[in-house]
Amino acid sequence: MADNTDHSLAVVILAAGQGTRMKSSLPKVLHPIGGRTLVGHVLETARQLRAAEVLVVVRHERDLVVAAVAEQAPTARIVDQDEIPGTGRAVEAALEQLQGFTGDVLVLSGDCPLADAATLASLLAGHRGAGAAATLMTAVVDDPHGYGRVIRDAAGEVDRIVEQKDATDAEAAVHEINAGMYVFRADALRTHLPHLGTRNAQGERYLTEVAALLRRAGDRVVASVVDDVTVTYGVNDRAQLAEVGRLLNARTVRRWQLDGVTVQDPATTWIDVTATLAPDVTVLPNTHVLRATTIAAGATIGPDTTLTDCEVGAGATVRRVDANLAVIGERVSVGPFTHLRPGTVLAADVKMGSFVETKNAQVGEGTKVPHFIYLGDATVGERANVGAGTITANYDDVHKHRTEIGDDVHTGAHTVLVAPVRLGDGAKTGAGAIVRKDVPAGALALSVAPQRNIEGWVEKNRPGTKAAEVASRARSAQKAGDGPQGQEG
Ligand code: UD1
Ligand code: CA
Repeated sequence: MADNTDHSLAVVILAAGQGTRMKSSLPKVLHPIGGRTLVGHVLETARQLRAAEVLVVVRHERDLVVAAVAEQAPTARIVDQDEIPGTGRAVEAALEQLQGFTGDVLVLSGDCPLADAATLASLLAGHRGAGAAATLMTAVVDDPHGYGRVIRDAAGEVDRIVEQKDATDAEAAVHEINAGMYVFRADALRTHLPHLGTRNAQGERYLTEVAALLRRAGDRVVASVVDDVTVTYGVNDRAQLAEVGRLLNARTVRRWQLDGVTVQDPATTWIDVTATLAPDVTVLPNTHVLRATTIAAGATIGPDTTLTDCEVGAGATVRRVDANLAVIGERVSVGPFTHLRPGTVLAADVKMGSFVETKNAQVGEGTKVPHFIYLGDATVGERANVGAGTITANYDDVHKHRTEIGDDVHTGAHTVLVAPVRLGDGAKTGAGAIVRKDVPAGALALSVAPQRNIEGWVEKNRPGTKAAEVASRARSAQKAGDGPQGQEG
């Protein structure tokens, strides 16, 4: 395998802050959008950049953040920031773990998930092309409030960055903001980070001060202005979480549209970044395609459908369905109002109808499971027809038991299959059967007592009711004429 690692690139992801404005017990960078945590998106971007080193700086709720990072990016290194606050201190801590590294350090924020690899690769290429000591991503925005402002000198070169809280009125009027993403030459950081002051409104060691220190030392600091300001958006509160989530989703939906997927209503279609859709899939409104779901060519999903970790075969139709960890075969039709739970595997050409719930159930090719059915811990053969209202009673309060249904079996309406139980190939059950014993191949299982009609019961036991009145009239009419009726069967 070719080693295409960028050996002169280290990525440092800042994730030590508390995220106070989220008002959350969950650390800010662990809030999910589009199927990943905020920091997870940044880790994925670092992976795409093929950085030789990825370091994540943690402090607030460090164990939770460390566990999440380890799960997604086991090779990322964890850096514990000490009690000294500030983005400059955070990078300083990371640099201690990069002894001997002489390349470029790309600093990213764990709460800025929209900076994609292409944008950052071009930031890096610009930095290397210019031979700069530092290159910062900047954006010109309508409302710069809250951001650090980029102050340029008379020649238009970056002079310094001033935080909102430290800005004079004239500085605050600047609309070019620091996106908080930078590339530094490692040696530039090594030289200047130890000299950051804390004489600012927040008493913190600001990474942004490195820009001014470099300029004073006669080094070049370049600002790279992005066209699409959304790549700079960060999450500080829940309103921004939703907005950034929406922007990420819009990007994902558009990518699939350009790859040949019809998405009728992007605003109500939510596709996780981890899902995969083939060309000629159609996604109808109010549909969520989540986690590792894959959808094969020609399938139609939605409206009103949520698929979590599902596999959908070519040409399937999945309409008003909630499915989780289910495999839906080719040309299968599911819905409306069907609940497929984990372990459901539907072979090709299966039909699943309304108010059907399945769990750990394998259904063979061409089988129909049309109305009001529960299949739990069950295997169903091919071409079977599961009658309306059939229930697998799989749970005896202690253990779960399996039901096995053979090929070409037909169960009568309202059959209760008390597991463990087995229906041989071609077997049948009568309507309302309660099946407690295995049914041999080709047998008909009946468990309901023959019907008995008690003549005149209503008139005798419910006198004075409307039912008694109409029954009496009907029985008189019968007696008066038209032949024998109401015989016992
Ligand atoms: C920072 C920049 C500001 C920029 C803005 C862009 C500084 C001083 N200011 O401001 O110029 O416009 O980002 O979004 O850098 N963090 C740590 N350790 C710390 C403090 C922060 O790891 O001690 C992490 C945070 O978890 C966060 C990131 O660094 O992921 C940015 O910190 P934050 O406090 O949000 O900085 P801003 O005030 O937004
Ligand atoms: Ca921030």
